[in-house]
Amino acid sequence: MKVKVSRKATFNAAHRLHNNNWSEEKNKLIFGKCNNPNFHGHNYTLFVSVLGFICEESGYVIDLNKLKKIIDDKIIEYFDHKNLNLEIPEFQSLNPTLENILKIIYDKLRKEISKELTLSVILYETENNFAEINEEKNSEVV
Ligand code: NI
Repeated sequence: MKVKVSRKATFNAAHRLHNNNWSEEKNKLIFGKCNNPNFHGHNYTLFVSVLGFICEESGYVIDLNKLKKIIDDKIIEYFDHKNLNLEIPEFQSLNPTLENILKIIYDKLRKEISKELTLSVILYETENNFAEINEEKNSEVV
């Protein structure tokens, strides 16, 4: 039987959603308040889950202290209190939407977590808006 263990983390960051190929009007229409040229912030909440078998020796699926350290070092340190558009290389040519931030977080975590473990990542941008990449449900990402 497999068990899923999870860790929650938070960070805050500023962004602006904008497509240079669109008119100012279209950008405003599509992105609304998130198109503000002076940027604005969000408090992001991240849930990282790892599904796998319990190790007989340790009793762990994954050492949650180790998972905490991976999240702190690779995600929180990288995004927290940053302007995503100006300071994060991936967003020089990519819109820092909830979906794209989630994808970058997933890619960074995937490199750090054993292939034998199934990873899922949920990111909340507001209390009500969130996105998920879940290897259990999405064969495209595996
Ligand atoms: Ni926004």
